[in-house]
Amino acid sequence: MKVLHWIPAAPDDAVPLAALFRQAEVHAPVGLDQRAEDVGRRLASLGPDLARHTLVGVADDGAVAAYAEAADMGEADGLRRIRLTAVAHPDLPGEVRTELHRWLVERAEQLRRVGGTAQAAVLGTRCAENDGTGHRLLVEDGFSLIRHERDLVLAVPESSPAAGLPPGLALEPVDERYEELARLAHNETYAESPAALRPDRRTWPQHATAHPHFLPDLSCLLLAEVSQADNPVAAFLFALADEGADEPTALLHCLGTRPPWRRRGLATAMIVRAQHRARSAGFRRLRLQVSDINHPALALYRRLGFTESGRGYAVLMRQLAAE
Ligand SMILES: CC(C)(COP(=O)(O)OP(=O)(O)OC[C@H]1O[C@@H](n2cnc3c(N)ncnc32)[C@H](O)[C@@H]1OP(=O)(O)O)[C@@H](O)C(=O)NCCC(=O)NCCS
Repeated sequence: MKVLHWIPAAPDDAVPLAALFRQAEVHAPVGLDQRAEDVGRRLASLGPDLARHTLVGVADDGAVAAYAEAADMGEADGLRRIRLTAVAHPDLPGEVRTELHRWLVERAEQLRRVGGTAQAAVLGTRCAENDGTGHRLLVEDGFSLIRHERDLVLAVPESSPAAGLPPGLALEPVDERYEELARLAHNETYAESPAALRPDRRTWPQHATAHPHFLPDLSCLLLAEVSQADNPVAAFLFALADEGADEPTALLHCLGTRPPWRRRGLATAMIVRAQHRARSAGFRRLRLQVSDINHPALALYRRLGFTESGRGYAVLMRQLAAE
């Protein structure tokens, strides 16, 4: 197989791109979207000018065989964050990877240029744990390993004892009355994690309750009896249906306990509740992703019986100074 020509992606490439992503994920998983609907949403999030952000390689048999995407994730702390994604069909020769990478870095250079000045930027990308070639290519180009994202799974047990809660706390379904308080609790919880998203009011619904795969039945808030001035949301869990999975799987997408409430069994209680509900809703597996530098969360999940699925990936970054 070889690439015959290169063109920008078009919105109706979502179907062939999803097929390419599925093939690539079998060999080198990095958590790419598997369904055309999700790939379509990803393309839409890049804005109307797909030629600026994407490159598609069409193979000699007419199939979409390679894809590169440079996404501007906005500016935070004076740094423009640019996410690079390169996907190559496993049957393509190694040089295609180099070509995709060169195009991405050039494109990132353009994205960070505003009015002729290059802003300070950080380029971030994922690389499968088993992808030695991709890893070498990135390191030779100045990227460094930042962390590994572990992909953990747990077969939903037939039954598990309910977990107790400290007095004054109640597990409640996610309720729109607590939408903003849940967002504040989320952002406080993730304040020490520099890589974590801290959604604003506009982007929060899409991160949580308005996510297209949101599972209200498995999601919950832990509400504390507190004075009116305090935020009652002590902990939260948002679950999504994992549509790309081969058996019915629920994804524990985002969960946390606010610092004053930690080490009192809150996260355990929310996950055990999600297990019970997952079983009744027909899910066979729970899945989640956690960074290998998040020792508290790893300890929590391991204690609950989660194990590695083998689909983890590395996150690498390269800083570009302002010019
Ligand atoms: C990870 C987190 C959710 C744990 O919440 P929690 O309500 O404190 O967890 P629990 O009280 O149920 O902890 C259960 C067990 O997990 C392990 N654990 C939890 N926090 C730990 C820590 N800081 N250090 C070591 N082990 C820890 C312990 O085995 C603990 O049992 P123990 O207290 O009897 O020793 C919380 O620290 C947090 O919100 N962190 C920031 C957000 C985050 O990282 N979320 C997960 C993203 S994947």
